[in-house]
Amino acid sequence: MQLENLSYALTQTIHNFGAAAVVGAAFLALKSSPEQLQLKHRMAWLVLIAWGAQAISGVIFGGVSYHFYGEFPDLHAVAVGALVIKILCAVSGFALAALYLRSAKQWSKKGRHRTWHALTGLGATALTAAAFLRWFS
Ligand code: HEM
Repeated sequence: MQLENLSYALTQTIHNFGAAAVVGAAFLALKSSPEQLQLKHRMAWLVLIAWGAQAISGVIFGGVSYHFYGEFPDLHAVAVGALVIKILCAVSGFALAALYLRSAKQWSKKGRHRTWHALTGLGATALTAAAFLRWFS
């Protein structure tokens, strides 16, 4: 029981900080002035790492359940929908942050701004889906 709770708590710690970073760093970059390219570049790295951490810690959540119960949790249809939304957000957020890091220097101010809008929106959507996953599980 202690080991199970510790495993969930440590996974949740990574997942919580990841959630704060995907939303907070994207919002900070969105609200910074268009000239602050270095800050935006750093935030893109943070957002990329945080989306990756969310996906990995999300999978670990499932792994911990499987390890201790021999099966995955039986999820309500709403919870499955919320989980799919989170996975789609994580894949899109990771890809968009990677694209930003690779090509944003060649983009217009408007293009960069739109990307931060999209990244903030993806983070907020995943955070909302997390509440539905939690309470419909
Ligand atoms: C591939 C992506 C993801 C997977 C597989 C995943 C999976 C999970 C799982 C299995 C839980 C535990 C649910 C429960 O308590 O019953 C969880 C909790 C949570 N997830 Fe995710 N997640 C992912 C991405 C995200 C993202 C991108 C965010 C936020 C931006 C996020 C925010 C949260 C939060 C805040 C909780 C705690 C909910 C609570 O207990 O109140 N997750 N996630």
